[in-house]
Amino acid sequence: MQNDVVKLAPSILAANFARLGAHVAEADLAGADRIHVDVMDGHFVPNIAIGAPIVQSLRPLTQLKLETHLMISDPDVFLDEFDRAGSDTFLVHWEGNNNLHRTVQRIRSLGKRAGVVINPATPADVLVEILPDVDQVLVMTVNPGFGHQHFLHSTLPKVRRVAEMIRQIKPGCELAVDGGIDETTAPLAVDAGANVLVAGSSIFAANESVAAAMDRLRAAISRVVS
Ligand code: DX5
Ligand code: ZN
Repeated sequence: MQNDVVKLAPSILAANFARLGAHVAEADLAGADRIHVDVMDGHFVPNIAIGAPIVQSLRPLTQLKLETHLMISDPDVFLDEFDRAGSDTFLVHWEGNNNLHRTVQRIRSLGKRAGVVINPATPADVLVEILPDVDQVLVMTVNPGFGHQHFLHSTLPKVRRVAEMIRQIKPGCELAVDGGIDETTAPLAVDAGANVLVAGSSIFAANESVAAAMDRLRAAISRVVS
């Protein structure tokens, strides 16, 4: 795998919200592939974070795609609002969605990219039927709801399985990981087959600039890619 095909998706959950625009601009300048926006409703996950007005405020500040990770109980209700605000991609969870195919079709009908997310305890097999319809799979490497958590190493075999499923069913579909990604865990995830790394605290809450933090991640990844 080539280093330049591993994409960094900084998650603004770990940013200083009083400096959000500046943080996003720094990530943009440092070569982020996209900006990951975590939306939480206090119900699907035990935390509240980020609504459509934040997406709307960020939209004019960057050309980067705004990838919206919906950790909310009824994503269909909010798709139009985030669409109008400027989201480019919607990542929706398999868990708790009785009509995932319909949700994915609605995202497509808005002309947006669609991704499906699975939690640590959810098996890879649930992806088989939906994989042909999505552009991206996101394997959670922590339980969703909070930043700054420890990477769950038990998710790595699943990342490998999903990578193999993608090769067989939907070559070209992106495989992202989210949670606890830093210079130690990023190479493990890439070695398992991930080609998009979502990272919050290791980019925005590091004791260095956003650019330096992203360089550090890239350097770590380069040890496992050729
Ligand atoms: C967790 C979110 C993540 C979070 C990752 O529920 O989906 O995107 O921002 O944060 P870190 O990189 O700090 O684990
Ligand atoms: Zn996320």
